[in-house]
Amino acid sequence: MTGSEAAVAVAHPNIALVKYWGKRDERLVLPCADSLSMTLDVFPTTTEVGLTRHSTDLVIVDGAPASGEMERRIVRFLDLVRERAARTERAVVITRNTVPVAAGLASSASGFAALALAASRAYGLPLEPVALSRLARRGSGSAARSVFGGFVLWHAGAPDAADPDLASYAEPLTDARLDLALVVVLVQTGPKPVSSREAMRRTVRTSPLFPGWLAATRADLTAMRAALAAGDLAAVGAIAERNALGMHRTMESAIPPVNYRTSASHQALEEVRRMRSGGLQVWATMDAGPNVKVLCPGEEADHVAGHLRQLTGHTVVVARSGPDAVLREQAP
Ligand code: DP6
Repeated sequence: MTGSEAAVAVAHPNIALVKYWGKRDERLVLPCADSLSMTLDVFPTTTEVGLTRHSTDLVIVDGAPASGEMERRIVRFLDLVRERAARTERAVVITRNTVPVAAGLASSASGFAALALAASRAYGLPLEPVALSRLARRGSGSAARSVFGGFVLWHAGAPDAADPDLASYAEPLTDARLDLALVVVLVQTGPKPVSSREAMRRTVRTSPLFPGWLAATRADLTAMRAALAAGDLAAVGAIAERNALGMHRTMESAIPPVNYRTSASHQALEEVRRMRSGGLQVWATMDAGPNVKVLCPGEEADHVAGHLRQLTGHTVVVARSGPDAVLREQAP
């Protein structure tokens, strides 16, 4: 590696309050609808990119060489960066996650946000955040949102936009006023039965509920923006929960069905409903995996985490609002 052409970046995962589920363009990773998330302060990914004289890229993920689809996606992403930078050097990519890969905790979001930032710096591309979010999107859609901290909106972009790539980017929501915490119940940390990419594709192509899901998620997005601006926690929680459950029902009706919810997930969802009936302000959300994530007021997070730990017996992690993706100074 050459010192001036190496960079290290850190990015955090995000949790969608209004989900991205469905692409209208697979190559450009253009979503069917806008989505909205909160970046978290836990489970960061740190990625180092250094240019090399070797003839192939070398990708190390969590201490082991990447292979298969993961390696292909990262190399394809590096090809895109090289094309934009008009450079040909290969790279050594060393990436370290602090959350189990493919456990439905969106390590691809923090991963491609960190890679977009480190690779842009190493190859000499501009580092303007909105442009970075467009670039990160090409690696994994949800990565567009992890470029920014706090509450983030990812614009799908108008289908008839002159340049659809340019029209689809993320930006921070500056009018959101809420101290929201997320308690993650780690019911399982193994690899997923179906990748979210394949699951999403199958849902778009075969689920009879997909058109209804799109209409509902668009309405949820408008309602969520209003609830965040008003600081209305109960509305934020209710919209986030119905949106996540709607997404799961939609993929569960695909052919063949995509089932990320296990019996342990259903049990945790039931506990959340019970806690809510008992007067606690808690709402559930889930992504492309079995883990259940519980939204609650920031000041009640430790209390809620204690309850969930006791009731479910699973490992529980408290997350709060996290920061922008950043470059990290390297050791000389
Ligand atoms: C359920 O961003 O992982 O977490 O664009 O195919 O890489 P690709 O998908 P990805 O999907 C995330 C889906 C989700 C919902 C969300 O984060 O909005």
